[in-house]
Amino acid sequence: MRPLQICPSILSADFSRLGDDVRAVLEAGGDIVHVDVMDGHFVPNITFGPDVMKSIRKVTDKIFDVHLMISPVDPYLEAFAKGGADVITVHAEAGPHLHRSLQAIRALGKRAGVSLNPGTPESVLEYVLDDLDLILVMTVNPGFGGQKFIPSGLEKIARIRAMIGDRPIDLEVDGGVTADNAGAIAKAGANWLVAGSAVFKGGADHYAVNIEAIRRAALIARGEMV
Ligand code: DX5
Ligand code: ZN
Repeated sequence: MRPLQICPSILSADFSRLGDDVRAVLEAGGDIVHVDVMDGHFVPNITFGPDVMKSIRKVTDKIFDVHLMISPVDPYLEAFAKGGADVITVHAEAGPHLHRSLQAIRALGKRAGVSLNPGTPESVLEYVLDDLDLILVMTVNPGFGGQKFIPSGLEKIARIRAMIGDRPIDLEVDGGVTADNAGAIAKAGANWLVAGSAVFKGGADHYAVNIEAIRRAALIARGEMV
């Protein structure tokens, strides 16, 4: 089993004090910074680009997991790599040349990820499994935080876990993750759990307890905690 990582999505952070909020959520126990980039074209919302990401890169050495919900994506890969991304994930639906995007990310020295929308079958992964380091299963339609988990994602996670076999690939789940479903998600085989609203709810005083609740549920399901 690959290590469990809890990845707070900074989409739910306070954008007026982004650096401080990122620092706070990491001090509260977040393992990885999940950075949601939206373009108002591939998804019906807009967030921020590589320059904003670069400015928050200064507050931590933790892994930056950059989820690009943009199309086209290839022209922007270098800017996100230079801006401090460690993992760069592109959507399988965002362009016609998935393999080329993954090669470009690895050529920039970064770990390459593929994300699938809830309606996209996992068969699109079949011919790129040896060209990626992470698979991100969306369990909401991307664009907004605070949506409800789509339950068919669980079966999909389990099928992708089986496809991965013993390849060194992390399996990430994003959308509607809470302490209530984290156990089922971990049991299905995901090891990176993204959470926005479930982590940031209640304000900074609650970050630690929110993260701990998700981690605990997942660890119990993995048999790593009683
Ligand atoms: C949705 C984003 C998610 C989002 C998750 O398009 O990719 O990362 O922030 O938010 P919650 O955990 O609130 O569903
Ligand atoms: Zn995301």
